[in-house]
Amino acid sequence: MELSQLSENVTPTVSVFLGTAFLAWLVSDWMSNRSRKGVWGLPFVGQILSLGDASHRAIHAWTKQYGDVMWLRVGFKSFLVLSNIKQIKELTKEHASSVETKPLTTTGKATKGGAHYDVVPGRWKKRKTIIMRALKNVQKQTVFSIPDIGTEEIRLMIPYLEGKASKINAQALKQGSNPGMQLFEDFGYYMARLMYRINLGTAGIYDKDIESRLRRMSNTIAIYPVTAGPLGNFDVLPYWKFVKRSQYLEFCSFHTLVGEICQLGIERYLAEEDKESQSNSCVASHFFHLANDMTPEAKAEIDLTDEVLFLGVCDVFRAGTESMTATMYWFALYMSAFPKIQEKVRTEVDDMVSESYDNAHKLPYLQAVVHEVYRFSALAPFGKRTVSDSLTLADGTFIPKGTSVLLNLWALSRDPKVWNEPYTFNPNRFLKPDGSFDGSKVENMMPFGAGMRRCPGESSGKVLVPMVAAALIANFVIEPPTGVTPDLEPLFGISLTPKPYQVVLKPRH
Ligand code: HEM
Repeated sequence: MELSQLSENVTPTVSVFLGTAFLAWLVSDWMSNRSRKGVWGLPFVGQILSLGDASHRAIHAWTKQYGDVMWLRVGFKSFLVLSNIKQIKELTKEHASSVETKPLTTTGKATKGGAHYDVVPGRWKKRKTIIMRALKNVQKQTVFSIPDIGTEEIRLMIPYLEGKASKINAQALKQGSNPGMQLFEDFGYYMARLMYRINLGTAGIYDKDIESRLRRMSNTIAIYPVTAGPLGNFDVLPYWKFVKRSQYLEFCSFHTLVGEICQLGIERYLAEEDKESQSNSCVASHFFHLANDMTPEAKAEIDLTDEVLFLGVCDVFRAGTESMTATMYWFALYMSAFPKIQEKVRTEVDDMVSESYDNAHKLPYLQAVVHEVYRFSALAPFGKRTVSDSLTLADGTFIPKGTSVLLNLWALSRDPKVWNEPYTFNPNRFLKPDGSFDGSKVENMMPFGAGMRRCPGESSGKVLVPMVAAALIANFVIEPPTGVTPDLEPLFGISLTPKPYQVVLKPRH
């Protein structure tokens, strides 16, 4: 038989086979999903187009129709969305061991995975225990303590911002209008320095190779939140990284810088002569000590290689820098939008704060403002968990093995049953009638996530965010440029970040 004849006979057969297989798949997809409440849309596409650029709001609207437990298909992925705090707590705490692993995603692969992503139940928990112990040990230090590190870095940041603001303001005075200045990269740089010191101590912090990378990293940090995330196109459409090639490559180069900074930092740390002065002062030193104290068998059991330790340092450095930067960026925006609240913080800070700002987390009004920043910005709108064993929640919700669950943390911060006027920025909601901070309200939201995958840097963040916030308010009046109304709507991604904005910083001294 001629080749052309063979192809004529085979092509229709293959087409019929593929068509039948596709139809069978469509029917089975429909059969398995029809009893599940939720928004499915077409196979391979799902609701990707309906999500728009504010997925948190679109999902919130659907939950009103379908309830707090809802299925959702986006691109190639299906998710079970939980929007109720009771179920989220139950899943992440009582079924902690079934939701601890994280399969590697496309954007996860670009971060090289490692400590953050792991699909072996049990192994990851032990790895995280090491991260938590290392961070706890750093937080316990009395010399090179977290507040000490914060104070030193604030002493560099404030004069830098004063110099930059004075230059811009003087030029604006001549021109008759003040466009203000961008803060994201500057916050990125100083938060990265803070995280560098928590992770790698002082070794190499003034090294030119590291310094230039910290600058470059802070200039590209904005790419991270809008590219990563469980609902991002890169993670729900397998070939998106080829479609949006330049964004993907910029995302990768951000991670390359993170890796290079941590690699150089570890080299400098190991080369440091006076290791004793450094020991116990940073995450890396604890990682190395903890790993050295383990038997080879114990290390093998959790596959704790040098590579995993290195990636653990990268994770803590990157996650801390990114969250702290976004939090401070929101804080400055809200302060510019709500001048009366800013003034009230200033009165409290001027009266009570020590010169090092290390007692800032004890100021009740500032605490209330910082918690309202966490609530209102809902920095991490969705947590993601993958269920490794089928389970049933107390209300009868069955979650099959392999399900990707989205923890709708954004919904918690907007629940009208819990928060009076949830769409209003009002720090007073976190104050008791006597003016003290009301910690019990914090139980109703989860800015640091939940369960075993909860943020390990929470205690550091809780000390550092008020310190940096107090230093900013004590040294500057923050205003929007004349005629500009601050835009409080976020850019959607793994974190919700403000759209790029300008503010006028007026030095007070
Ligand atoms: C205001 C500051 C911060 C906020 C709002 C924040 C928030 C979060 C959230 C929501 C998560 C995901 C948790 C989940 O899925 O349940 C997370 C994870 C993480 N955070 Fe933070 N964070 C902050 C500061 C920090 C700091 C200062 C560090 C390091 C010193 C840090 C290190 C990490 C790491 C390593 C993870 C990954 C944990 C895992 O996958 O198990 N964060 N953070």
